[in-house]
Amino acid sequence: MRAIGVGLLGLGNVGAGVVKLLDDNADAIAARIGAKIDVRRIAVRAADKPRLVDVDRGRITTDVESVIDDPQVQIVVELIGGETPAREFVLRAIENGKHVVTANKALLAAHGDRIFEAAERRGVDIFYEASVCGGVPLIRALRDGLASDKIEELHGIVNGTSNYILTRMAQEGRPFGEILADAQAAGYAEADPSLDVDGWDAAHKLAILTSLCFGVRVRVEQILVEGLREIAPVDFHHAKRFGCVIKPLAIARDHGADVEVRVHPAMIPEHRMLATVTGVFNGVWVSSQALGPSMYYGRGAGMMPTAVAVVSDVIEVARDILGQASSGLPLRLRIRDWQDRPIRETGLLESRYYLRFTVVDKPGVLAQIDGVLGGEGIATRDVTQHAEAPSATETRATVVITTQVARERNMQRALAAFAKLPCVVDKTRLIRIVD
Ligand SMILES: NC(=O)c1ccc[n+]([C@@H]2O[C@H](COP(=O)([O-])OP(=O)(O)OC[C@H]3O[C@@H](n4cnc5c(N)ncnc54)[C@H](OP(=O)(O)O)[C@@H]3O)[C@@H](O)[C@H]2O)c1
Repeated sequence: MRAIGVGLLGLGNVGAGVVKLLDDNADAIAARIGAKIDVRRIAVRAADKPRLVDVDRGRITTDVESVIDDPQVQIVVELIGGETPAREFVLRAIENGKHVVTANKALLAAHGDRIFEAAERRGVDIFYEASVCGGVPLIRALRDGLASDKIEELHGIVNGTSNYILTRMAQEGRPFGEILADAQAAGYAEADPSLDVDGWDAAHKLAILTSLCFGVRVRVEQILVEGLREIAPVDFHHAKRFGCVIKPLAIARDHGADVEVRVHPAMIPEHRMLATVTGVFNGVWVSSQALGPSMYYGRGAGMMPTAVAVVSDVIEVARDILGQASSGLPLRLRIRDWQDRPIRETGLLESRYYLRFTVVDKPGVLAQIDGVLGGEGIATRDVTQHAEAPSATETRATVVITTQVARERNMQRALAAFAKLPCVVDKTRLIRIVD
């Protein structure tokens, strides 16, 4: 039987999963594609480190170039992560005429243009199913399943750590810091959680999805990105009053003339399917012209779910090699066909808003807040006020306001004005409402 040579860069969590899956299911995979997948060489940083899978140590090396340059390696699988040196390794593999499979969203979000251009020029495949939503076959669904349709809008829960934290805060009424510490102890959050909880991991994924869905270039700096750190247990209580839950959303919308991209926690109605995506699970809701709404759900991370996505890419490339046809044009859209439509400026984004104020409980406070909102042309929809337990010096109250649709620029100016009002005694908390 013919063999397809694979060179693996990285044998961490995902790399080990890939080796295990290819070993465990070797016969079934060979039967499906008519060839053996042969992991010939594996490059790592520390050759003697204990590994999560049994591997013949003779296949492991710290000389990455020797793997990329091996003439019997036809597919290079990059599972190192980060931008550097992964970028150089991937570009070198492409220049050497190797097909590339990667799970690296940070790399593609920052250097996708350059990498896809190089792959197109050299006529090799580049596949990246695992880079967004781990094991959920989302890229394939968007690229192939909806190839004949026009995608209009996408709302995704694409970061499992953030979803896990918000889910537990909602269930247990405990603050962000405590749940984050639990998540770190359980291995659901990194020691440095900022990529996840500050929204940047989701922004990397959204940049990839937006390019794929709408054929535009997106830089992460163009995305409105806000994390979870300021959400408090009381916000879940208010969300419930409005029939909503709070979810970490990544949103992309095609407005025709431009494209909207944003990542932030959002209050969404509890009857939406996305509201039922809990814990570490990912879910993406897509609206396209001909199909209408569709939804994709599953595990967005973890050794074996991510390995399933990586190996599915390896199998697709192997089929191309065996069939002598290249189906892996980057994003199924040649870079030169990308449109130069602008990304909508963050100040021009529109949303409804939930605002929570801590104020001195005195007459006239609501009028002052309303004056600021009115000055920015922001109309309120719902206002409630609750007195808090009185302290020795003053009585405080919580005011919760939801607004009609308003512009981000006006809301940011209003927030700056609230901070200067003497009656507002704590930072005003804001959560966008996505109906
Ligand atoms: N983990 C997940 O659930 C998940 C989900 C979706 C996507 N991804 C993506 O998958 C990729 C891999 O993630 P991971 O969790 O498997 O990472 P990981 O556990 O940190 O493994 C990284 C591997 O790369 C090797 N490596 C790092 N720098 C290297 C260098 N300069 N030269 C050679 N080898 C080097 C490391 O070698 P040593 O072992 O010798 O240190 C290690 O084996 C990342 O892009 C990540 O974003 C991960």
